[in-house]
Amino acid sequence: MNKKLVAITGAGISAESGIKTFRDSNGLWENHDIMEVASPQGWQKNQALVLEFYNQRRRQLHKVKPNKAHHILADLEQHFDIQVITQNIDDLHERAGSTNILHLHGELFKSRSSNNSNYIYEQKDDIKLGDKAEDDAQLRPHIVWFGEEVPLIPKAAEHIAKADIVLVIGTSMQVYPAAGLVNYISEKCQLIVINPDDTDYNFEKRAVHIKEKAVKGMEALYKVVLENKL
Ligand code: OAD
Repeated sequence: MNKKLVAITGAGISAESGIKTFRDSNGLWENHDIMEVASPQGWQKNQALVLEFYNQRRRQLHKVKPNKAHHILADLEQHFDIQVITQNIDDLHERAGSTNILHLHGELFKSRSSNNSNYIYEQKDDIKLGDKAEDDAQLRPHIVWFGEEVPLIPKAAEHIAKADIVLVIGTSMQVYPAAGLVNYISEKCQLIVINPDDTDYNFEKRAVHIKEKAVKGMEALYKVVLENKL
């Protein structure tokens, strides 16, 4: 039986595809205050602005492609039983061919009713003011905003607790509750971090840190796997 590998990914894995990370832009997200565009308060204040912000992100997502880091992670399914737990709202893991993906913070290519989170739809194009869900409520992006519940945390924690290897790629691990998932890593679990910058995760001391960008880091990791050293 293959070992269980859980990959926790963040904005850094999509950076080389051309999508900006959050923390690297000084609290601004594509020139917007994060709370203006990614909180229930921001939505109450200006729905048109929030919709336009995510419409732009969605249009951008149509133009970018998965990079080699996404592809190698998908290829590793030949060697491991893999669960991807991503904080990213893009679909680049799907397009690269990964099969088991949890989107903790939602998905850009989905929308939902602003009154009922069970009414979820495919959304490849813009959401406009006046676009309604089946309960007649305005459609909003299917994104977890700051201050909202993250419903997939218990499921993610279950996977992490069972992992033989946890691979953390391109995330600052600063945003809770996602950041708290590392507390479920078992004692015997092997930990690998791919991040070009220093990190201060609480498990850093017992992790192998490949201090490279995602593509180079995943190439290095793949080599180790092919040499049967993991
Ligand atoms: P961050 O922007 O907080 O962190 C990006 C991480 O990627 C940093 O640790 C960088 O050092 C690293 N990095 C930068 N370039 C990289 C590269 N080419 N290869 C590998 N790593 C690289 O992004 P997240 O941790 O994903 O939430 O942020 C978590 C959440 O905060 C997001 O999901 C979002 C945001 O607010 C919501 O929208 C709810």
